[in-house]
Amino acid sequence: MKLVVIGANGQLGSDVVAAFSANGDDVAQLTHSDIEVADLDSVSRALRDLRPQLVVNTAAMHHVETCEREPEKAFAVNALGPRNLAVVTRQSGAVLMHVSTDYVFDGSKGSPYVEDDAPRPLNVYGVTKLAGEHFVRCTNEKHFVIRTSALYGTRPCRAKGGLNFVELMLNLARERGEASVVDSEIVTPTSTAEVARQLVVLSRSERYGLYHATAEGSCSWYGFAREIFVSTGALVDLKVASPNAFPTKVPRPRYSVLENRALKARGLNGFGPWQNALHKYLGQRTEHPLESRLCRS
Ligand SMILES: NC(=O)c1ccc[n+]([C@@H]2O[C@H](COP(=O)([O-])OP(=O)(O)OC[C@H]3O[C@@H](n4cnc5c(N)ncnc54)[C@H](OP(=O)(O)O)[C@@H]3O)[C@@H](O)[C@H]2O)c1
Repeated sequence: MKLVVIGANGQLGSDVVAAFSANGDDVAQLTHSDIEVADLDSVSRALRDLRPQLVVNTAAMHHVETCEREPEKAFAVNALGPRNLAVVTRQSGAVLMHVSTDYVFDGSKGSPYVEDDAPRPLNVYGVTKLAGEHFVRCTNEKHFVIRTSALYGTRPCRAKGGLNFVELMLNLARERGEASVVDSEIVTPTSTAEVARQLVVLSRSERYGLYHATAEGSCSWYGFAREIFVSTGALVDLKVASPNAFPTKVPRPRYSVLENRALKARGLNGFGPWQNALHKYLGQRTEHPLESRLCRS
């Protein structure tokens, strides 16, 4: 299959490139210097000569505080961007696979959200990502919209400008021997490598639609940190941070766990417990350049 990955040097995009390449597909990689998704002309130009059968969009403006400060830009990237991709892929007959987020929900349900649950985003990031989903679903019927959550991967998240949560915790353990982490937000930590493999499986299915795609189970950020430290044997004084320790004006869902109901119903779910994916990541991470950088610091 001939495909284009947009956001190819991002945290998820780089694993998407690796997963499709490992599958033997012909993968063209587009970074932000090759395409501006918010600009229809740029999207048309970038895709015209490549003539992909599938376009995977991982590009987004997803730093939550920045989205709140710059709502027009967030709408342009997160809503008009996928719309532009949907328009161009519909014209060429290509399939569009678009990545979305658990932040389309408000967290009040208190049990895992399924694809049919009504979204109600609490912040600009969630509103603009939901608008992007709608544009894709209304514009190109050959679409996959995939909501995922709390990603970590071997490449740093570009929008968040640094280490993923796992590396941040291990850095704190090494440099300070202590960490304070909130236990008031419940999420499902999800490995980008696993999401990428799921996208490959879905791309072969032609079962277009909306999918939740996260690891199984859930925890607080505190619980995630504890599992990281226990699994690595890191010596660290881990405390629950008070809710006011990291003040933010931007509301976030306190519970954003997703159930992969559509994947399971179609026999396509490839995810296992979040702890298993974390252990796999920790087992492989010494091979990554980031590790040697951290070890030297
Ligand atoms: N990270 C999470 O925890 C999380 C959770 C749920 C869902 N998601 C979703 O997962 C997707 C991937 O996230 P990620 O963590 O891999 O993000 P990332 O590391 O920040 O990668 C995003 C990529 O998109 C590119 N990009 C940003 N704006 C663009 C634009 N206007 N036009 C073209 N390219 C643009 C970025 O390039 P530059 O950096 O050069 O601008 C970067 O390569 C996003 O859709 C996000 O909403 C993420």
